[in-house]
Amino acid sequence: MEETDVVILGAGAAGMMCAVEAARRGRRVVVLDHARRPGEKIRISGGGRCNFTNRAAPPERFLSRNPRFAISALSRFTPADFIARVDAAGIAWHEKTLGQLFCDGSARQIVDMLVSQLVEAGASLRLSTAIHAVRHDGRFILATTAGEIAAARLVLATGGRSIPKMGATGLAYEIARQFGLAVTETRPALVPLTFAGAELKSLAALAGVAVPAARVSLGRTAFDEAVLFTHRGLSGPAILQISSYWREGQAITVDLARGQDVAATLGQLRAREGRIEMQTALARLIPARLAAAVAAATGTAGQRLADQPNRVLAAVGAAVNRRALRPVGTEGYRTAEVTLGGVDTDELDARTMAARRVPGLHVIGEAVDVTGWLGGYNFQWAWSSGWAAGQAV
Ligand code: FDA
Repeated sequence: MEETDVVILGAGAAGMMCAVEAARRGRRVVVLDHARRPGEKIRISGGGRCNFTNRAAPPERFLSRNPRFAISALSRFTPADFIARVDAAGIAWHEKTLGQLFCDGSARQIVDMLVSQLVEAGASLRLSTAIHAVRHDGRFILATTAGEIAAARLVLATGGRSIPKMGATGLAYEIARQFGLAVTETRPALVPLTFAGAELKSLAALAGVAVPAARVSLGRTAFDEAVLFTHRGLSGPAILQISSYWREGQAITVDLARGQDVAATLGQLRAREGRIEMQTALARLIPARLAAAVAAATGTAGQRLADQPNRVLAAVGAAVNRRALRPVGTEGYRTAEVTLGGVDTDELDARTMAARRVPGLHVIGEAVDVTGWLGGYNFQWAWSSGWAAGQAV
């Protein structure tokens, strides 16, 4: 049977970062993955340009049962540390909105950087290798399609359940459970929301309309980003963000003209240009198709502003600024960017990502119950947690 120091399951963002660090420390490292290529989610991320980190990654941008858990790893390997590696590899990048950093060119550059660092450091990357079983007799012994391999340290880095078509599985959760670790409830996150009945009908009629300046809120949580109407309901960054907080049965509030008091603006327009029709007035504030739909829904289509009492302007304003909507579900793991929940952080040491009760077992990346907002935070968690485990295995 082959023997090594460290086996890492999963050649994604976290697994490759961990492999680079552990191999640089002189550990014999083998990375196993069932996929034919490493880092497939990196390759498709950020629309092919990989939003590889965010300028700042404070703990408030992460969801977890223990919101303090991520602080240690995030402060030891920071966005600046990852940017320094990207710069050293000669990868050009730019900042989009909200501190989000993207490659100027292809996301493949990030994959290539990690693979070449991994190979240079002396780690062995083995693809197209399925894991059949794991047992423990003081060491971890893995039965794989390429035979058995034993190691004192086993790192679970197989990510979450999102996009099963790309090979996502619940393997990390299964192995964690096999060794007695608790796994919190998992659910799709950063995912479009779906609707039914009359709400679906009104939203789907606007499929393709984008509202750049929107605000979506749920209780005290609010996101100021774009909203997109789809055939199934709503998508766009603000919706993906709120989806991580939304639970079945809750209503969200959507403001489709963030920063503008629509009723007040309509009142001013009525005084100045009372002859224009409602949808024409609204189209100065929101996309024309949406303006027409709001006018129709409030019974004001084709009517002149001058004829509208304050009560009607208030109702039209509310339909734009405070629209309450009740999603019935999400588009699920098929399109979710991440999985919320995972291996319970109570089971892990925040500094080393080691399982407290199972010596030698570590869990990193999306498999852990730490989920970032949209905007480069999930990769930063993968880099930081992978780096932290890489110093310890
Ligand atoms: P990751 O999923 O990267 O890697 C897991 C690896 O384990 C894979 O290589 C997989 O093949 C392997 N594996 C799984 N099951 C296995 C099994 N049973 N046996 C063997 N191997 C197995 N985040 C961000 O910060 N910025 C962004 O721009 C984006 N964009 C984005 C777009 C899309 C479409 C998605 C789906 C996701 C994003 N994300 C993102 C999220 C980000 O991709 C994700 O959080 C990280 O890739 C997680 O890194 P991990 O290494 O934990 O898992």
